[in-house]
Amino acid sequence: MKLLFIGDIVGSPGRNAVKQLLPKLREQHALDFVIANGENSAGGNGITPKIAEELFSFGVDVITTGDHLWDQKEVVELLENEKRFLRPLNYPAGAPGQGSAIFEVRSSAFDVRCLIGVLNLQGRTFMPPLENPFLLGREEVERLRRQTKIIFVDFHAEATSEKIAFARMLDGQVSAVVGTHTHVQTADEQILPGGTAYLTDAGFTGPHDGCLGREIEPVIKRFLTGMPQRFEVAKNRVLLHGAVIEIDDVSGKAIKIQRVSEATE
Ligand SMILES: [Fe+2]
Ligand SMILES: [Fe+2]
Repeated sequence: MKLLFIGDIVGSPGRNAVKQLLPKLREQHALDFVIANGENSAGGNGITPKIAEELFSFGVDVITTGDHLWDQKEVVELLENEKRFLRPLNYPAGAPGQGSAIFEVRSSAFDVRCLIGVLNLQGRTFMPPLENPFLLGREEVERLRRQTKIIFVDFHAEATSEKIAFARMLDGQVSAVVGTHTHVQTADEQILPGGTAYLTDAGFTGPHDGCLGREIEPVIKRFLTGMPQRFEVAKNRVLLHGAVIEIDDVSGKAIKIQRVSEATE
């Protein structure tokens, strides 16, 4: 099977990029499944039920998130009711929502039922402290593997070391670990020795003529003065960032990983 993972969708430019480019990418790569990180899809901050619905209507099958999860209060509705919406698993017990789920991949390419497990975790280095993603991640993967060997992990983290160590820990146990959060696409896509596809960061989907998707001036002013600023979403050079991963349906091991950086018209 072939899946596309889309890096953090930022604001309406990012959403429009998905709308415009996903049909083309689906055809070009014969995609069976699409996962997107939506933590910045509402004006750069969080996500709402309406926006999630929009992303699903564009062809996204599952939405993952990260530290911007709580920016819009309506997100609780999604966490409580939407099975296709994931938050980092390692929030403290009692937080609403789910950190992993299993989905059926509907594709004419399969004569047997094909299941994919999707897991979302958040790192702890230079990030708000959550439960240990290594311990919880390892346990959760063990649990998911009882149902399917095809498992995709969005590891939302700042530090490259934490992401690499996490992927190495799960090498051979999951199909892919792709990082998000930095909004900067890395060039280290590879298949680890055990068969896990890996990319430190998928990058972000939105306006790249800015600072990580935001207008430049307020970001510079904040660094110059230390004063909080309003970070509006930038406008120009809109790219869809992510990765296409081909996975062996039977073994769950990755066959190929290819970075995606596609410009809108
Ligand atoms: Fe983000
Ligand atoms: Fe983030």
